[in-house]
Amino acid sequence: MHAYPYTITISSEKGGVGKTTLATNLAIYLKAMREDLPVTLFSFDNHFTIDKMFELQKRTDDTADVHALLMGAKAGEVVQTGQYGVGFIRSSTELGDIHERFKGPMTLTRMLAESGISGIVIIDTRPDLNILTQNALYAADRVLIPVKDLPSLENCKNIFALFDQRGIDKKSLALIPCLIDSRIKFEGIFKDQKTLLRAIAVNRGYRCLDTYISKSPKVESLNTNPEGKIYPILTHARGTEVHGQFMEIARDIFRSVDSTRETRACLYHTWLLEKEAGKKEAYLARLEGLAERCLVCGALLADHPGDRSFYFETSDRSARGFLHGSCVSGMLCSTLYGMQEHEPAFGAARALVADKAARGVSLLMPQISADACTLDYRQFSMAGEQLLQKNVEMPGFEEGAFNGVHDRLYLLLNEALAGFEGALRKDSWLSVYPVDPNNPEAVLHEESYKAIHRLQKHFGELLSA
Ligand SMILES: Nc1ncnc2c1ncn2[C@@H]1O[C@H](COP(=O)(O)OP(=O)(O)OP(=O)(O)O)[C@@H](O)[C@H]1O
Ligand SMILES: [Mg+2]
Ligand SMILES: [Zn+2]
Repeated sequence: MHAYPYTITISSEKGGVGKTTLATNLAIYLKAMREDLPVTLFSFDNHFTIDKMFELQKRTDDTADVHALLMGAKAGEVVQTGQYGVGFIRSSTELGDIHERFKGPMTLTRMLAESGISGIVIIDTRPDLNILTQNALYAADRVLIPVKDLPSLENCKNIFALFDQRGIDKKSLALIPCLIDSRIKFEGIFKDQKTLLRAIAVNRGYRCLDTYISKSPKVESLNTNPEGKIYPILTHARGTEVHGQFMEIARDIFRSVDSTRETRACLYHTWLLEKEAGKKEAYLARLEGLAERCLVCGALLADHPGDRSFYFETSDRSARGFLHGSCVSGMLCSTLYGMQEHEPAFGAARALVADKAARGVSLLMPQISADACTLDYRQFSMAGEQLLQKNVEMPGFEEGAFNGVHDRLYLLLNEALAGFEGALRKDSWLSVYPVDPNNPEAVLHEESYKAIHRLQKHFGELLSA
């Protein structure tokens, strides 16, 4: 079974609210309280706190870092097991160019899903809402937003607004009062900092964790020591209130981990796979309905599969298929210039016509009335711009008289557009698209087929106008 991570993102636009302290220590508590559950941590900032805290020994392969993860590396290539059994991915100073790759909001979710990382992933973000932070927010099963004062609480609204804009459920978002100085007391109902922050948060419709994190001189001192190390709360500040608060937060996280059947990464990935499967099914269905023969010469296409250079489709989609390159260019050469194959100039003219036809769409619309049969022939650029129009007489079309010049054209029109008792279907036309002879089926792939249908629709509107 494919493994998907449960993702926790720590985010706040305000700097210095305790994001990194929360991310790193939460990883340690989660791991310590459930040893068999993998916990992986990484950060988008370039302070290297995580590296300093967890690195057991300096690795020489510099490329196994967050940058590599964001380029699509798998868990095994970038996650290393560090101190306290916590998995971590080394930080990178090179995330600037990554922003280009992260235009979409769900890229990180997909990468996490495909990375094979299991257990819990904790993402520490920079104090901004750039595209990476946004990706981390949308990937998260839980977003913890530390707030320490009114300005940081004020800033939260941007995160909530992002979720509103994208129509994403905000139930993953929760504030956590941080750096709470319990010595500060107020008069009245909001008796202290955390009560005040929580009351304002709730009043604005923001969910708040039941726990908060106290400001503790001991905790603050953990990254200031002669060794230049950063010590965890679990091992070096057990005597503080903050220790109990982290245990409380970890329990809260475990409750949601245990009650989550499908994580965001899992849901998104499943959806992507289904979409892919749907596309594949639609593609196979499109392959199903193709004509087996080239309707110009009548030969089985399977006999010379490499000659398929054009795809045709009728306006009502009832006939579709590939055509030989030489059949189409020969047909157009005769139809447009009245030339016959044995004429000396035919070869040169045909090369010219073939070149033109390979660069645009040919549209063939027969106009049959009691006194005349003509063909309205048009050529369009692939952008749908009309490049050429020509009306061609079709002598003997109704009688089925072949004269050597129009034979190929008559065959194609009759095969593709014939309706009741051999007469052409009224107001129907057909268009011929150039395709890559090395991979003609590619024209039926989702995107290119959609493009064809946009053109067909455009032609339909143009002709009926
Ligand atoms: N519970 C706490 N008690 C006292 N000091 C704390 C506590 N938590 C964090 N600090 C201190 O607050 C400062 C900022 O913390 P931290 O680096 O975790 O914030 P941050 O939000 O990650 O900052 P940035 O936005 O710059 O990444 C640090 O000096 C840290 O030691
Ligand atoms: Mg930080
Ligand atoms: Zn043919």
